[in-house]
Amino acid sequence: MNNRRDFMKTSLVASAGLMAAVSTSIASSNTPKNIFAYSTANQGRWEGKAASHAPIITSEKGKITVETQHGMAEKHYIVKHSIITEEGEVLGENVFFPSDKQAISSYEIKGKHTKLYALSFCNLHDLWVTEFSV
Ligand SMILES: [Fe+2]
Repeated sequence: MNNRRDFMKTSLVASAGLMAAVSTSIASSNTPKNIFAYSTANQGRWEGKAASHAPIITSEKGKITVETQHGMAEKHYIVKHSIITEEGEVLGENVFFPSDKQAISSYEIKGKHTKLYALSFCNLHDLWVTEFSV
């Protein structure tokens, strides 16, 4: 009986360690603190979906445009874009509806930032991030 309990304890500890290792490897350095998101470099369970889910950022004279090249339909669409700092401060956000033709949003970012993140949330394929600076 003790051997069985020891085996169960060992299994639980090993599982917890594995989960911690997986969590650590998933949380890459190109994601904001305390937020998990998929990215081009880390597509996780959505391997192959980066091109249609990772936000694309263009910048011109302090105006940032975020685009997710994803279809917009009632059952599958981009729900939201957000711009956040490394500390998680939200600098801008835009909510989309399935009736919107494209998932494109624009923001005026004040000041210089060495590390900002554009987030794009798909209703089926979770949260995606692209790091950028202005
Ligand atoms: Fe999607």
